[in-house]
Amino acid sequence: MIKKCLFPVAGYGTRFLPATKSMPKEMLPVVNKPLVQYGVEEAMQAGMTNCAFVTGRGKRAIADHFDISYELEHQIAGSKKENLLSSIRDVIDQGVFTMVRQREMLGLGHAILTGEPLIGPEAFGVVLSDDLCINADGPGVLAQMVELYKQFRCSIVAVQEVPMEAISAYGVIAGECMRDGLYRVDSMVEKPSPETAPSNLAIIGRYILTPDIFDIIRNTEPGANGEVQITDALQTQAQTGCVMAYKFQGRRFDCGSVPGFVEATNHVYENIYRTDMA
Ligand code: G1P
Repeated sequence: MIKKCLFPVAGYGTRFLPATKSMPKEMLPVVNKPLVQYGVEEAMQAGMTNCAFVTGRGKRAIADHFDISYELEHQIAGSKKENLLSSIRDVIDQGVFTMVRQREMLGLGHAILTGEPLIGPEAFGVVLSDDLCINADGPGVLAQMVELYKQFRCSIVAVQEVPMEAISAYGVIAGECMRDGLYRVDSMVEKPSPETAPSNLAIIGRYILTPDIFDIIRNTEPGANGEVQITDALQTQAQTGCVMAYKFQGRRFDCGSVPGFVEATNHVYENIYRTDMA
């Protein structure tokens, strides 16, 4: 249904300095797997085997991670350690990985537009790998969104209720509730103050976008923080067409912040890593 997923991975990760001085923040491990691999696995589970990375300077480790490492594989071939590489091998075998560089950090909307040559005229997923999403009881968040896309054929954003004191860190939606957990978006605003926020429904880093979004982004002026915001482009799309917001099943960890990263690490260690190793 949807074959391609875009990963904007050009950001600096300043909140994790000095760890991210010479290493991409997307390569920080949550237990034994880099953040970006969780996102890629989620995309692949949703059928999106073509992963398009919008990278930047200093991000080569991401490209290397999704490639064979002959020397290492030769060294551990036939030993017990070999199976430690099985998850990344499966991902590499199933996927196609493409990259383009974003030369200047002009915002998430600009990053997505930079990926246009890798996507083309088709609907696509977007994963912000800072947001680690885990659904122990069923399909991942992107797979849930693909099911909705089959029904509505329009852009869809994943949302979550957040406390009002935290709302200004997010894009926020308002809309008409169509059924439990599904909204037709009327308005969207990037990083509102608690006083002006239209609701407590915050966008998290999972999107399905229809390809007309590229032209809309091209015509979107810089907004919050002086950056070209995907939220503003989606607001335009919601006015002229249709955008849905979906309260997903599962948990989301904000791995762009140190507390969220630690929480994710504890969760994965207790609920996934130890079970897998048992
Ligand atoms: C981005 C988006 C924002 C969204 C958030 C989710 O913001 O611009 O709309 O709510 O991701 O993590 P950032 O976290 O890059 O400031």
